[in-house]
Amino acid sequence: MKGKILVTGGTGYIGSHTVVELQQTGYEVIIIDNLSNSNADVIDGIERITGIRPAFFQLDCNDREGLKRMFKENKGIDGIIHFAASKAVGESVKKPLLYYRNNIVSLINLLELMPQYGVKGIVFSSSCTVYGQPDILPVTENAPIKPALSPYGNTKQINEEIIHDTIYAGAPFKSIILRYFNPIGAHPSAEIGELPNGVPQNLVPFITQTAAGIRKELKVFGDDYNTPDGSCIRDYINVVDLAKAHVIAVERMNTNKSLSNIETFNLGTGKGVSVLELIKTFEKVNGVPLNYKIVDRREGDIEKVWADPDYANRVLGWQAKETLEDTLASAWKWQLRCCKGK
Ligand code: UD1
Repeated sequence: MKGKILVTGGTGYIGSHTVVELQQTGYEVIIIDNLSNSNADVIDGIERITGIRPAFFQLDCNDREGLKRMFKENKGIDGIIHFAASKAVGESVKKPLLYYRNNIVSLINLLELMPQYGVKGIVFSSSCTVYGQPDILPVTENAPIKPALSPYGNTKQINEEIIHDTIYAGAPFKSIILRYFNPIGAHPSAEIGELPNGVPQNLVPFITQTAAGIRKELKVFGDDYNTPDGSCIRDYINVVDLAKAHVIAVERMNTNKSLSNIETFNLGTGKGVSVLELIKTFEKVNGVPLNYKIVDRREGDIEKVWADPDYANRVLGWQAKETLEDTLASAWKWQLRCCKGK
C-alpha cells in the first residue's frame, strides 16, 4: 500500500473518478461525503471498477467533532484531497452564506486538524474561475486573479488565500492547488460519471440529457461573442485525465518533490472549443442529433478561456491525453447506462 488518502467529496463527480485512480495506483482511500449532491451507490460503481471498496463515512466537513472522530478512528492518513464543496454558480448568488459556510468553514476545519493528526499534505480543488476573463490567452498560473463574479467563485479565491496564509505562517504540511478548467466525460467503463441533481447547469450533462430525451431542447447561451462562431470558448478536459493529476499531486507532496510548500497548477488541455463546436462533435461522434436553439447570453458567463498547461506538463509530468471525441463518447455511454428515462 502506497499510503492512506482522505478524499472529501469522494462520491461526487471528480472525487469518484479520483478515488478510482488512487486505488488503481495502490493507495488506500477513505471517502467522506455528506451526500448533499451525490449518492452512496457511487461506491458500488467504484468497487466494480477497481475490485476494492473504499472506506466511506457520511460526514460533513463542517462537522468538526465528526471529523475529529474520523481522524481518531483512521490513524495514519498521509494526505487529503479536498473536493467537498457546493458548486452551483447561480445558487451561490441566491444563497451566499450557504456557500461561504460550506466551502470555507470546511477547509478551515481540515487545515486546523491536519497538524493534530500528522497529515502532511492537502490537494485543493480550485477553478479557472479565479482568472475571470483573462487579458492574455492561453492563461498561465501567473495571470492576475480578477474580482470574482459569484460567491462560488469568491470561495475558491478565498480558499486559495487561506491555504497560502496558513502555509506562510509555518503550517507543518504542503499543499497543491489545482485549477480545473471544464471537466467533462465519464469513466470509460460507464460505472461512474456525472450525476447532476435536478436540471443540469453545466453544458455536457445538459447535452446528454437532451439527446436522451429527458430535456426538450438545449439552449445555447449567446452566439454574438467575439469568437469565430460567436459562441463561448472553454477548455474541456476529460475527467479521468483530471483525476490522474490528483494522484501525481499526492505523490509529489508525499515524496517531497514539491518545489515549495505550496504549488499551483492549471489543469486543462490547452485547446479552446466553442459551445457550437462541442455540440457538433457530440452529434458526429455519437450519431445523435441534438435539438438546440440560440438564446440570449447567460449572465456572468466569460467569453473565452483556455489553459496554458505547460507548467503542469513540465513540472508535474502530467498531460491531458483523451480526445474530445472519446470524451464525448464516454459522456453519452454514461448517460445511456445510468440515467436514461430518469
Ligand atoms: C461554470 C463556472 C465555473 C465552475 C463550473 C463548475 C461560470 C462563469 N463558471 O463554468 O466557475 O467551476 O461551472 O460547475 O459560471 N452553456 C450553454 N447552455 C447550457 C449550459 C452551458 O450554452 O445549457 C454554455 C455556457 O454559456 C458556457 C459553456 O456552455 O459558455 C460552459 O458552461 P458550463 O458547463 O456551465 O461551465 P462554465 O460556465 O464554463
